[in-house]
Amino acid sequence: MVSNKMWGGRFEGGPAKIMEEITPSIDFDKRLAEQDLAGSRAHTRMLAAQGIIAKEDADAILRGLDAIGQEIAEGKFIFKRALEDIHLNIEARLAEIAGPAAGRLHTARSRNDQVVTDFRMWIREACDRAEQGLRALQGALLAQAERHTTTVMPGFTHMQSAQPITFAHHCLAYVEMFTRDAGRFADGRKRLNECPLGAAALAGTSFPIDRDVTAKALGFARPMRNSLDAVSARDFALEYLAAAAIAATHLSRLAGELVQWCSPGFGFVRLSDAFTTGSSIMPQKRNPDAAELIRGKTGRVLGDFVALATGVKGLVLAYGSDLQEDKERVFDAADTLELSLAAMAAMIADLKANPDAMRAAATAGYPTATDLADWLVRALKKPFREAHHIAGSIVKRAEELKVDLDKLPLAEMQKIEPAITQDVIAILSLDASVASRMSYGGTAPDRVREQIVFWREKLK
Ligand code: ARG
Repeated sequence: MVSNKMWGGRFEGGPAKIMEEITPSIDFDKRLAEQDLAGSRAHTRMLAAQGIIAKEDADAILRGLDAIGQEIAEGKFIFKRALEDIHLNIEARLAEIAGPAAGRLHTARSRNDQVVTDFRMWIREACDRAEQGLRALQGALLAQAERHTTTVMPGFTHMQSAQPITFAHHCLAYVEMFTRDAGRFADGRKRLNECPLGAAALAGTSFPIDRDVTAKALGFARPMRNSLDAVSARDFALEYLAAAAIAATHLSRLAGELVQWCSPGFGFVRLSDAFTTGSSIMPQKRNPDAAELIRGKTGRVLGDFVALATGVKGLVLAYGSDLQEDKERVFDAADTLELSLAAMAAMIADLKANPDAMRAAATAGYPTATDLADWLVRALKKPFREAHHIAGSIVKRAEELKVDLDKLPLAEMQKIEPAITQDVIAILSLDASVASRMSYGGTAPDRVREQIVFWREKLK
């Protein structure tokens, strides 16, 4: 093969065979085609407006870019590995369509500022898609919460039954997490929205370009101030990956809970046939595959962050080909996250909670022992430490008699603490316990309903 026709002027020999394997990025950076065309259009118009290229040449270039956009949209564009990447593929095709005028497009520009401009625009959209996906998932969680403000389930610490909570409260905990995730994408998006175009290779250009114009045309808030930073920085991609990794981690926790809740030992929720798969050997199985896959995919997204951070950390300014590795990590994380969000939202919308199973599980393990201790503090003015001790002894006695706390005869409690009165019985039920957690942010149905009103308004 002869040397690359886009940059081969000083080359006599062609690349080694293996170079044709390791150099190209077209197989993946073709996903930047739309952004690349937009960048070239903005650059061309600016060059013409500044008198750097002739109006007729600009028109020929713009017509050619439109034609290429059409070809790509129709799947007719032929991507060539010999042309390395999306930038050179488009420019080479432009030369075929527009003739010599095409050669003027790359004036005052380098692939180094070009690629990172494209990539910022791509990630900007990915941030918006992530936010939308999170929104949809929050909507599904909120709808479940609305149905289950009085559905009591065990709240766990250390995976031990701790205190009763409501399923609505549990759902809203995830709504909170996913809101912060959305905030991370929105925040990163704001920071990344500065335009590198015009930094050229690394030092800026001697042509009288107008970077404000191209920045504005491409929807950026302003041009980046420092040309070296503009072509070197990948913290915008790292921020996206970090936000994606954290969101994926939250999805994984929820997925893990779904897997548990679906298991017959829990039976807290049931997924429809549409969201379960069978086993090829065990006819009874209803596997929550999507939840497991979402949990399983989390490692990829975390890995994407680590891979890019590792790639960037030792890199001197400005551009190095190491940076070509940034795109696949981001594409993989975005694809994985978006798929996971969509699958999770669909599963949450699909699931049917089983209030009886939740209540039965909440009854086991003396989850109202804290309520008993609190009552001893409130009614008998016991110090909490002593109340804790007395309640512990009462739990032990209930355990011996194999009854729930609210079924333990008063006389048995009085053997342990004679001052206990009949009043205590009322506070030992699951519903009374849940209803009593009225502190701000607590699980009491009244409190949770307030939160639901808040989220309904906010997610509108
Ligand atoms: N394909 C390259 C990338 O993805 C584009 C920039 C190449 N610049 C260069 N000087 N080789 O990063």
